[in-house]
Amino acid sequence: MSRPLGWPSDSDFSVVDVVVAEPQAGELLVRNEVLSVDPYMRGRMNEIPSYVAPFDIGQPLEGGAVGTVIESGSALFAAGDVVLHQSGWREYAVIAEDAATRLDPDLAPPSAYLGVLGMPGLTAYAGILEVAAMRPGEVVFVSAAAGAVGSAAGQFARLKGAGRVVGSAGSPEKVEYLRSIGFDAAFDYHEGALRRSLRTAAPDGIDVYFDNVGGRHLETAIGAMHPHGRIALCGAISMYNAQETPAAPRNLALSTGKRLTLRGFLAGDFAHLRNQFLEEAATWLRDGQLQYRETFAEGLRAAPSALLDMMRGRNLGKMLVRL
Ligand SMILES: NC(=O)c1ccc[n+]([C@@H]2O[C@H](COP(=O)([O-])OP(=O)(O)OC[C@H]3O[C@@H](n4cnc5c(N)ncnc54)[C@H](OP(=O)(O)O)[C@@H]3O)[C@@H](O)[C@H]2O)c1
Repeated sequence: MSRPLGWPSDSDFSVVDVVVAEPQAGELLVRNEVLSVDPYMRGRMNEIPSYVAPFDIGQPLEGGAVGTVIESGSALFAAGDVVLHQSGWREYAVIAEDAATRLDPDLAPPSAYLGVLGMPGLTAYAGILEVAAMRPGEVVFVSAAAGAVGSAAGQFARLKGAGRVVGSAGSPEKVEYLRSIGFDAAFDYHEGALRRSLRTAAPDGIDVYFDNVGGRHLETAIGAMHPHGRIALCGAISMYNAQETPAAPRNLALSTGKRLTLRGFLAGDFAHLRNQFLEEAATWLRDGQLQYRETFAEGLRAAPSALLDMMRGRNLGKMLVRL
C-alpha cells in the first residue's frame, strides 16, 4: 500500500487475507454486507493533519459499513442483528459493542443508513437547515447534485419550502434524474460556461449555495448570490486529487459588499440533529416524497475502483460496495 499523489491507482491498495479474531466480552463479530464509499476517504490517504487522522499504511482502511452480527460477546446485541459501524473496507469485523448501532431493517434497506438515512443525509439536512439556514421561498443552488449528499440536499430544500431548487451535475442522465426528483432546473456543468448555465437556471440569482465542489462552482455561485446569501461549504471535490493550488474562487472579495456568509461544517458537528433528521427523513421516504439512488460495486476487490469511479462521477446517488 502507498499514499497516492494526485489520483490514486489500484497499486496504492492491496487486499490481504487475515485470520479474524474471536469476539471477546463486549465485542461483536460482524459480517459486513455493504460498505460506504465516501469522498473524505481520499483525504485520509494524505499524510497531512486534518479533522480526521490519515489512514495508516499497512492497516485496513476504515469507513461506514452495515452488516449482520454473526457472534456476539455482548448482552446488548444478538446474532442476526443488523448493525451500522465504522469498520468497513473488510468482509468481517470485530467491533466493540459501543461502536455498533442496531438498525431497523423494516424502515429501509440497511444500505440506506449509509446514504440518505446516514451520514450523507444528515450532512445535507444540517447543511440546508442549520448552516445555510434556508428560509421558505429562497432560491437554492446545489452542486454535485446527483450524488448522495447533493440529491438529499436539493430534496430537503424543496421539502422545507425553497422557492426554487437548482442543481448542477456531470451528465445529461444526471440532469434528467434531478428533474425527476423535483429540482426546478438542472444543468450539466460540462456544457457551456458555468456562469451562463447558472443564470439560465436561476435568472434572479440565488440565496443559498450548497457547495460540494469548490473551485469554479464556488466562484460562479459567489457571483450569483443575493445580498445576505449563505454558502454552506460542505466539500470541494474538484480539488481532492488536484496537485496544483486551485485558481478559483477569484471573486471572494464580493462577499464583503454582498454581506455573504460562507460557513464550513462537518456532519459530526450536528449529531444532536440526528434523531430529528431520521424522523423527518424516514417519514418523507415512507410517503414517497424523498427519493434516493444507489450505485453498487460488487465485492471487496472492487472497493478501490469504486472510490475512483465515485470521484470521476460514475455514481448516481450513493456509491456503495456490496459484499
Ligand atoms: N462536510 C461534511 O461533513 C461532509 C460529509 C459528507 C460529504 N461531504 C462532501 O460532500 C460532497 C459530496 O459527497 P458525496 O458523498 O455525496 O459524494 P457524491 O456526490 O455521491 O459523489 C461525488 C460526486 O462529485 C462529483 N464530482 C467529482 N469531481 C467533480 C468536479 N471536478 N466538479 C464537479 N463535480 C465533481 C461527481 O458527480 P458529477 O458527475 O456530477 O461530476 C461525483 O459523483 C463531497 O465534496 C464530500 O467531500 C462533506
